[in-house]
Formats: sequence, structure tokens, C-alpha cells
Amino acid sequence: MVQMSALCLAVGLLALPCPVGAQGLQPYVVVGDAIPEPLTNARGDATRGRALVVERSSTCILCHNGPFPEQKFQGDLAPDLTGSGSRWSEGQLRLRLVDASRLNDATIMPSYYRADGLTRVGPTWRNKPILSAEQIEDIVAYLVTLRE
Ligand code: HEC
Repeated sequence: MVQMSALCLAVGLLALPCPVGAQGLQPYVVVGDAIPEPLTNARGDATRGRALVVERSSTCILCHNGPFPEQKFQGDLAPDLTGSGSRWSEGQLRLRLVDASRLNDATIMPSYYRADGLTRVGPTWRNKPILSAEQIEDIVAYLVTLRE
């Protein structure tokens, strides 16, 4: 295992793909188009999740719009998030956040929980996912509440 992570670090520096989990990411299992199991032991918090989605730095609303009346400017490049919890299961929402490119390799949606296989990543962000496992779970907990 020690050898594996040393190898992975070396490989990571060359920006080549590394197995999921090898860079401090929680390992996860994809079943069909979903990640059925949470990335963390604790349940996500929908209130924190909503705050993250609405915050500009998470970038969601650069592309998406949704039931966020307090946000004047919202994106129109992606589906309205209203009703995502009716359209998708919790596990499907989790995979869409973790790595949307697995479902659509031409997607413009960032892979929020992935550190390998990305190109042109600035030095500060290299080898780190955009969101933490806890933040992914908080956002999933919020999205499942968006029922139409
Ligand atoms: C750069 C644009 C972009 C950003 C940023 C983005 N998305 Fe997406 N998202 C998309 C697109 C486009 C789709 C449609 C499916 C596809 O093309 O992959 C999508 C699909 C989705 C879906 C499925 C929607 C449906 O009902 O079909 C959800 C849920 C979602 N995004 C949530 C989020 C959340 C939460 C964030 C922020 C953490 C986010 N997205 C950030 C572009 C984006």
C-alpha cells in the first residue's frame, strides 16, 4: 500500500490517472448510473447544501437556475435544478456531482469529486477535488428535497 501511494504520488505529479481513493479521496462504487452509498458516515445536511449551491464560489448557479429567489443572476446553460429530487435518486444525484463526465463525456459540468485525469488544473487545485466528501453529501441531501 505504501508503495502504491508513493507510485501514485509520482504518477500524480505527471498528471496521469490514478485510482480513485489513492489521493485521499474516499473510495466509492458506481452501480449503473449511481453511487448508492454515501461518501461519508454522517448524513449530509440539506441547509448547508443549499448554502453551497447558492454560493457563487461553488459555481453551480453559473450554469443552473433553481428555486433560489435571493439570487438575481442564475445560469441558463444547464437544466433547472427545481425537481431534481423527483427526477433522480439520491445515488444518481451523487454520481452527477462526483463525476458527471462518467455519464456524458462531453459534459461541461465539472467533476466535483475527482482529482485524477483532469487537464489544465492550476497548481493550487492540483490533486484535490473541488468539493470535499462532506460538501458532496450536504449538496446531495439538499437536492433530494427539490421535489416538484
Ligand atoms: C459549467 C456548467 C455547470 C456547472 C458549474 C454545474 N453544472 Fe450541473 N449540469 C450541467 C449540465 C450541462 C447538465 C446536464 C447534463 C450534462 O450535460 O451533463 C448538468 C446536470 C446537473 C444535474 C442533473 C439535472 C437534471 O435534472 O437533469 C444536477 C442535479 C446538477 N447538474 C447539479 C449541479 C450542482 C449541484 C452544481 C454545483 C455543485 C452543478 N451542477 C454545477 C452544467 C453545470
